[in-house]
This record gives sequence, structure tokens and C-alpha cells, in this order.
Amino acid sequence: MRKPFMAGNWKMYKNAAETAAYFEKFLPLVAASTHCDIAICAPFVNLPAAVAAAGASRVEIGAQNLYWAKEGAFTGEISGPMLVNVGCKCVIVGHSERRQYFHETDETVLKRTQAALENVLHPIVCVGERVEERESGKTEAVLQTQFEGGLAPLSPAQFAKVTIAYEPVWAIGTGKTATPEMAADAHRAIRSLVTAKFGAAAAQQVRILYGGSVKPDNVKGLMAQPEIDGALVGGASLEPASFASIVNF
Ligand code: 13P
Repeated sequence: MRKPFMAGNWKMYKNAAETAAYFEKFLPLVAASTHCDIAICAPFVNLPAAVAAAGASRVEIGAQNLYWAKEGAFTGEISGPMLVNVGCKCVIVGHSERRQYFHETDETVLKRTQAALENVLHPIVCVGERVEERESGKTEAVLQTQFEGGLAPLSPAQFAKVTIAYEPVWAIGTGKTATPEMAADAHRAIRSLVTAKFGAAAAQQVRILYGGSVKPDNVKGLMAQPEIDGALVGGASLEPASFASIVNF
């Protein structure tokens, strides 16, 4: 059985004081939520505040990106060892906003995923189709390309430590959630790619999260699909009560 995993992606929101205030409200609401793993992925500069505020709770703190070199002349970048050093446990890789606005490719997704794994950071690797790709019937082909470029070159041991997030781009921040059936179809397609490359046991074990307008009032229907192992939540993770009710679906 795959343990559910609920991850909040705060994107470019909140300062350090707001981060501390959030955890003060959020932690009591999820103190008994041992049915699921929980992570909050905060902006780089607020990671120390988030780690301090999460304290000894079960809530893991993650980053939203990393660069693949350990250190060097890469102005503006942040490395895996730096994230580990401030107490991060996980990191989002290849979010569609990184792909769309910052020229992320399947090749750089792979490099970042490998760098995360080398540093014992748990990568949450994002895949998902754009609206025109879905409308032209290319969803599965896009997922296959993203899987082959960004994930398939990993070793089986590396792949075993990855979480995948399926985030259809048209559902992000739009209020248009994929129906539970649509999401489950995409998850099944991803899982069959995993079966073909890494085998049935790896496919049974890998967690695939759904992301895109997950809210307290639609999470239950999504989580009722056996294919959906959790959620990567943007907007609705910014408010403690709202994210707690998603965690406690
Ligand atoms: P929303 O939940 O705001 O649609 O964002 C989803 C997302 O991009 C999570 O990574």
C-alpha cells in the first residue's frame, strides 16, 4: 500500500513572519494526521524559517527547485547541499511554471533529479500536458516524452526514491480541476510507462500525486481513485485550515 502524500507548493508567496504564523496554526491541525506524509515547499529565502517553525513535527520542508552543481560560479542558483544544509528533505523538480517561464527541459529535469538524489533529497518530479496538447489528443505522448527524458534514465535504485506529480498545465491556478477519472487515466498511463521501464514492483511502489486546483471540496473525489496517491497543492496550501482539510481528506 502506498501511503498518501500531501505536498504544498507555496510558489512565490509568504515572508518569514508569515511562514512562522502559518505553522503555528497548521501544526495542531495535522498533529494526528499520521495517515499521510506531509510536506511544504517554501521559497528559498524562507526555508530556514519554515524548518524552524516545523520543528520536530512530521511536516517535511522542501524547496521548489535546485541547481545540479554542488557549488561554483552560477550566480543566482541554489545547490542540493545548500538545501540539505538548511534542513530541507524534499524538492520539487520540473514544475510546469519552471518549464514555461524558465526554460526547464526534460534534460535539465533529469539533471536536477539526479542532483537531488545524490544529496539525499526526495525529488517530486512534475509532468503534465498543456491545454492544446490535451485538446489534440497528445496527453499520453507528452507524458511519455517527459517520462523518457526526465525519469527513465535514472537507475532503478534512484527511481525508487522519486515521487511523480501529474499536473495538467490547464488545471493549475485556473479552478479547472481534472475530473478524478481524467486524473486517474493519466496516472495509469504514467504507471504503465514505469512498468515498462522499471517493472511491475516499481510501478506499484511509486507515488503519483495529482496537482491542479486541488481544494478541500474536491480532494475527497480525487483521493477515492486508487491511482491517486496524494496531491501537490498550490493556492489552497497557502491557508493553514484549507491545507489541513486537504491533508485530512
Ligand atoms: P494550484 O493548486 O494553485 O492550481 O497549483 C497547482 C500547482 O501548480 C502545484 O504545484
